Amino acid sequence: MPPPATRPRAAFLFPVLSVLSVAHGLTVLPVLYMYPVLHVWVVEPVETGAHGIATVVVMTSSDEGRTMTSTAQASEKTLVRPGETVAVCNQKGGQGKTTTAVSLAAELAGRGARVRLIDADAQDGSATMWLPPQWDDVAREEQYDLVHALTGEVDLDAATWPTTVSGLDIVPSYTSLKRFEREQTPGRDIALQAAIAEAADYDVTLIDCPPNLDQITVTALVAASAVVIPVKAGGLDLEGIRELNKTLGLVRSRLRADQRTAAVVVTQKLNSALTEQVIELLATDYPDAVHAVIRHTVRVAEAPLAHQPLTVYAPEATATADYAAMAATVFAPVLDTLVEGAR
Ligand SMILES: Nc1ncnc2c1ncn2[C@@H]1O[C@H](COP(=O)(O)OP(=O)(O)O)[C@@H](O)[C@H]1O
Ligand SMILES: [Mg+2]
Repeated sequence: MPPPATRPRAAFLFPVLSVLSVAHGLTVLPVLYMYPVLHVWVVEPVETGAHGIATVVVMTSSDEGRTMTSTAQASEKTLVRPGETVAVCNQKGGQGKTTTAVSLAAELAGRGARVRLIDADAQDGSATMWLPPQWDDVAREEQYDLVHALTGEVDLDAATWPTTVSGLDIVPSYTSLKRFEREQTPGRDIALQAAIAEAADYDVTLIDCPPNLDQITVTALVAASAVVIPVKAGGLDLEGIRELNKTLGLVRSRLRADQRTAAVVVTQKLNSALTEQVIELLATDYPDAVHAVIRHTVRVAEAPLAHQPLTVYAPEATATADYAAMAATVFAPVLDTLVEGAR
């Protein structure tokens, strides 16, 4: 059941937003228009389920170049443990899925984790284009990718390739991935889950999902015990989030009862009071998830063209620091194991 405790919060928002808009020299009118939208958002929480009592970190970023963390309620159970598979998912394009998947993967690899990044979106701006597989010495017909693994032609390890980032391997995708949507191979929903189960162990497996809720997204979600949802600051689409949560609910009730939303990350944050409110609202609606914020940084858009992760291309950038802070929190159990292993 949605927690009724969110109701007073919605009522509280109106005066807060009004004061904010007046303080910023705006008319109250836009706030009046916003209110029904925010009200629906808050009083119909999109995710339900048992909430454990524990501590998790909500991260907010200051705009002076520092990254601050503050503690809020959430469940430690949502943090990602060693060996888990995490789907980075939102059916809208441009939300920061690929940037988040690649940046978290590179950050974790930089800290010594073995990471398998599965590119499940063959569109332009893909993880494969960003960090191409290092397979120059391999015959063309043996350059296997995700579609070969999903259709059972090869196992997942044969479709996993090193990147220029040490410790980070990629399962690439190309437009041939559409073949998986078209072909009626049996067990499509569990194809990736089965492939991962039979493949070599990695500390973390990350899946970059496509911008839709079609078969490949469902297959990716079924493979994942944890989900990370990126939402572009200013791009909040209530209907879209509801649709996503409906799909997550079906996947969880039918195929992955153990799956949870590990993190919600607001990407491309620019300064704005309204962004802060949206961040707060997301924190209310996903009470168990880690909430992270990634600042807008021009260099993020340049890194894919250089085929380098942010950790290499722009180590000093604010977004790089934000992803590092997010990884340190969401993947804390994984990183703890690495530290213990190194002792
Ligand atoms: N923190 C950021 N700062 C600036 N640009 C960003 C940031 N995060 C993502 N972008 C840009 O936004 C666009 C969409 O991001 P992307 O990760 O490709 O989203 P998706 O995979 O959800 O479609 C890309 O051009 C990317 O470079
Ligand atoms: Mg993408």
